Amino acid sequence: MCDHCGCRAYPRIAELTAEHEEILTLAWVLAEAERAGEPLPAEELAALTRMLDIHVVKEETGLYPELVHRQDLSASQLAELETEHEEIHQTLILAHFGRREYYALAAHIEVEESELFPSAMFGFEDEDWEALDVAFRAADAMLVQPAQPAHHGSSTVPL
Ligand SMILES: [Fe+2]
Ligand SMILES: [Fe+2]
Repeated sequence: MCDHCGCRAYPRIAELTAEHEEILTLAWVLAEAERAGEPLPAEELAALTRMLDIHVVKEETGLYPELVHRQDLSASQLAELETEHEEIHQTLILAHFGRREYYALAAHIEVEESELFPSAMFGFEDEDWEALDVAFRAADAMLVQPAQPAHHGSSTVPL
């Protein structure tokens, strides 16, 4: 967590941080179920998948591009973070989420909170925060627009 740097004072960073806390809470429930040899609880699995879908869009269309724009995120770091998003998504599709997956998710979040969020706080200009607002509003709109049924050869899932 990044309480020390004050980035929670920035609403969009505070929003991502709050989402991280909810994501980790849900992910722990899944990991505990798998550890106990039980099926993953459907409600938590669906909630985590839905929350991550929105969260990842906020990061991949808002936070990450602005950090790249400010040269605070390299192409290789960007590729690594986006690959991790995809890996997390795949584990949820396969309904396989144990301690290993939980700690991989926690490590991803730790990098974001300890490196990316402070970079945003110290490096972003007004135009970056405005671009972040636009991206986040578009991501939030996904919550009120249920996904359309998938058609052959295309996906409506924005990941
Ligand atoms: Fe992320
Ligand atoms: Fe994140």
